[in-house]
Amino acid sequence: MRRMNAPADFPQLAPIVDDLASQGWSHQSLALPAELTAALAGECRARAAAGSLEPASVGRGDGQQLREGIRGDRIHWLEPGQSVASDAYLGLMDELRERLNRELYLGLEDFECHFALYPPGAFYQKHLDRFRDDDRRAVSVVAYLNADWRPEQGGALRLHLAEGEHDVLPEGGSLVVFLSAELPHEVLPASRERLSLTGWFRRRGSGPL
Ligand code: OGA
Ligand code: MN
Repeated sequence: MRRMNAPADFPQLAPIVDDLASQGWSHQSLALPAELTAALAGECRARAAAGSLEPASVGRGDGQQLREGIRGDRIHWLEPGQSVASDAYLGLMDELRERLNRELYLGLEDFECHFALYPPGAFYQKHLDRFRDDDRRAVSVVAYLNADWRPEQGGALRLHLAEGEHDVLPEGGSLVVFLSAELPHEVLPASRERLSLTGWFRRRGSGPL
């Protein structure tokens, strides 16, 4: 896959920045190139088939039983160099990070990201992405990887906005970006397997080195 450069391949950068500045969140459908979405979905499924997805944890030190009552997804953290598609996605996220720093002075230092697979019926209860014991997460980014998602299949990302609930369907190629510390959200159960890439831009740690 060729290297993907903004803005030609990623024209949604500007509206994402504008939305974050004005309302703290953004939803862009068809934000990722179709070939990249398909390649990432294939990689996520291959990793699942190989048994290399792990149960996700919740904060730190929580037991397995508690975790499954809160979130039912399985994950794989991305490492640079693991695949052409993953590197293309990390490259796009770096374009977004630089743009956010340049235009909104957010001081975002790095990006951490994992594949997430929710089996049918799995959910993630209402939460904030900034943990009490880790205040580095500043901006959350979720990219959806399922083709042909239908509303009756469920699986929405429910944003708990000040003005009320807003549901976003996990449609392949769409992106949701929001301020991690401010926007409570949850994943509703779906009738089919739900694939995403969930990541966080982080600021420099504020604690002692
Ligand atoms: C998360 C999360 C949302 C989604 O992993 O923290 O909120 O739509 N994911 O997958
Ligand atoms: Mn979350």
